[in-house]
Amino acid sequence: MKFKTIIEPFRIKTVEPIRQTTEAQRVEALGDAHYNVFKLKAEDVLIDLLTDSGTGAMSVYQWAGMMKGDESYAGARSFLAFERAVHDITGFTHVIPTHQGRAAEHILSSAMLKPGDIVPNNTHFDTTRGNIEHRGAIALNVPIAEGHQPQVLHPFKGNMDLEALERVLRDNPGRVPLVMTTVTNNSEGGQPVSMENIRGTSALARKYGVPFFIDACRFAENSWFIRTREPGFEGRAPIDIAREMFALADGCTMSAKKDGMANIGGFLAMNDDALAARCRNSLILTEGFPTYGGLAGYDLEAIAVGLYEALDPDYLAYRIRFVEYMAEKMVAAGIPMVRPAGGHALYLDARAWLPHIPPLEYPGWALSCVLYLEGGIRACEIGSVMFGQQPDGSEKASDLELVRLAFPRRVYTQSHMDYVCEVLLHVNTLAPRIRGMRIVEQPPALRHFTAKFAPLVPGVIA
Ligand code: F0G
Repeated sequence: MKFKTIIEPFRIKTVEPIRQTTEAQRVEALGDAHYNVFKLKAEDVLIDLLTDSGTGAMSVYQWAGMMKGDESYAGARSFLAFERAVHDITGFTHVIPTHQGRAAEHILSSAMLKPGDIVPNNTHFDTTRGNIEHRGAIALNVPIAEGHQPQVLHPFKGNMDLEALERVLRDNPGRVPLVMTTVTNNSEGGQPVSMENIRGTSALARKYGVPFFIDACRFAENSWFIRTREPGFEGRAPIDIAREMFALADGCTMSAKKDGMANIGGFLAMNDDALAARCRNSLILTEGFPTYGGLAGYDLEAIAVGLYEALDPDYLAYRIRFVEYMAEKMVAAGIPMVRPAGGHALYLDARAWLPHIPPLEYPGWALSCVLYLEGGIRACEIGSVMFGQQPDGSEKASDLELVRLAFPRRVYTQSHMDYVCEVLLHVNTLAPRIRGMRIVEQPPALRHFTAKFAPLVPGVIA
């Protein structure tokens, strides 16, 4: 390539205005939301980085596909297009549509798990953990040690600890019905998993006769990291890398709201006929007939197109560079974050950035409030608010206090990101003054979505 600038590989045909607010309006909006950014009205947010899930922009080809949607209850043409695409990319025999990723997890857990079972994963996403625990089974995380160390550089920080995995398999015969790997590893910072590691996991699962499933939400981003970081994969087509990865597994769960480039949807895919029959029966009860699984025909069309768009090398080069670009600015400014940058998000390390705030005064939560108050940016705490609540009602500090800035696909431009960087640099000047928060009211579980908060010092966050 003659020129180095990586551009957004699209032009914009439809725009959605976003609204500037004044600081006074944001103070009021955050107060009305009880200092919980999940309770803000989206129209009061300028740059919404709460999640990359279902928030992306679709292409003209996806919209055109939606017009072709076949809404037949059974055997719809749109299902066949969807099935063809998923089969082509993953190679799995059975393709079962679901309304989103967690529905696929629920069906798989119902079909495979019983109380006391253990399911190892590099790191379970919270809905995966929830669905496994709902069956009375144990969701066990076995990431490599580097995964927990925000400042330690490693090209594949999302990897599974293969020695630990083998110990689990060896010491618990008959109790491990399923091994999983999550690509990229969202809960550890959107970090990739190497092909070598996936191969190792697959070999161990086969050695112990246990099926191996991939949580494939960000399979395309993971394929790009393999291409750019793993010896032997330079220049390989992302779709070939994805196929090689899926060939190592027996099935996958997928949220098409991520690398399916769709606003809703997901699937479960596998090779085992008997398991697929059980899953389809459960699908009919909870999601719908096996050729639509809780989705409209037009959703299936959007996913069938989106899965290939997510694997386009121009798109992936831009996508991964977008996050890296911000990370470079943060590192240059000395703002602590999980390094290297993840695929879909930047994870600020609030514990290191705000060391004067103890974990149970929620430094990450306070930071998420400050980002909104100062810049109208919405981000998500992943720390002691999200994970600190214990089943017995007590509270325990989380290992990490992170704030995730997750980037919707094809939605924001580089100038939006320059703005976000400017806000972060400004927040850096306020950091020593940021104060902790307290919880005023909370539900018994998953408190981050609905809990009410207040600044520890009334009226003062920064
Ligand atoms: N697995 C992973 C790794 C995820 O990141 C998610 C969702 C799911 C499963 C569940 O998929 O939302 O379609 O039911 N992650 C979103 C996020 C919510 O913001 O990271 P879903």
